Amino acid sequence: MNHRPRRLRKNAAIRSLVREKELNISDLICPVFVTEEKNIKREIPSMPGQFHFSLDRLGEEINEIVEPGIKAILLFGLPEYKDEIGSSAYSKNGIVRQAVGLIKEKHPDLFVITDVCLCQYTSHGHCGIIDDNSVDNDKSVEILAKVALSHAQAGADMVAPSDMMDGRVGAIRKTLDKNNFEDVSIMSYSAKYASAFYGPFRGAVNSAPSFGDRKTYQMDPANSGEAVKEAGLDLQEGADILMVKPAMAYMDIIYRFKQDFNVPIAAYNVSGEYSMIKAASLAGYLDEKQVVMEAMTGIKRAGADLIITYFAKELAKWLS
Ligand code: PBG
Repeated sequence: MNHRPRRLRKNAAIRSLVREKELNISDLICPVFVTEEKNIKREIPSMPGQFHFSLDRLGEEINEIVEPGIKAILLFGLPEYKDEIGSSAYSKNGIVRQAVGLIKEKHPDLFVITDVCLCQYTSHGHCGIIDDNSVDNDKSVEILAKVALSHAQAGADMVAPSDMMDGRVGAIRKTLDKNNFEDVSIMSYSAKYASAFYGPFRGAVNSAPSFGDRKTYQMDPANSGEAVKEAGLDLQEGADILMVKPAMAYMDIIYRFKQDFNVPIAAYNVSGEYSMIKAASLAGYLDEKQVVMEAMTGIKRAGADLIITYFAKELAKWLS
């Protein structure tokens, strides 16, 4: 036999010599939920091990994130006040603005990315402005640009629009540039699918739409050519990083983006993917560490350069 691939699997040393992909702590982005209440560290029931933090207790969490060497966070705000246009998403003392300010004061080197969307902030729970019972694209884009600007003014390093309106990346880029924030980058949720895997997140941030669904703006899970089209448009409009979301049921999209586009690709390992593994591990059906390492390595192997995951803190400890 000339071919014996097992020769290169003979022991741990040779396996590590020929290993093609390796997870690094510096690949990880850790999501953080900040609420406008006081003295809160509240576990999210559908996401065991994940918490809401109020501003006065946010420092505890940030220290735990920074300690094992995680370099970046993705911030989500939970406002007290909601209205039709999501005005608390860009108000002067909006929750994300306050959180960014606090974090940057103590950890100027932590890379702070903010989620730019309206669903947590609108009374109807849609990611844009409602006109005549449907989401009005261009009115929504105007507000989203304001939200992104307000985050940049507070000191965000990068904004991540997750709304899936047409033209939002271009509008945000233009607004940021006009206000001298040329250095604030954009990670676009380019291929964000209308996915049931967001279920635990929506419960967590109380953002489920009060009528209809998100299928008129988020993508049909059956489509991949359309994802490439979305990504191409985002790049033309000025996106710096392209994201695929969710990750594990969309590995082909991650792979295609990496083949087709010469920019960093991010994958969002979403709430439902986290909760599935967590629940099975808590029930004793799976070995959490091994399954998480395998899943994340798979996401990297598919082509992701960056991984947004609720497992970030655990992974960072395992990897260090
Ligand atoms: C806001 C937003 C969502 C997620 C990230 N940003 C929810 C949604 O679109 O319904 C999902 C995150 C997750 O499930 O972990 N638009």
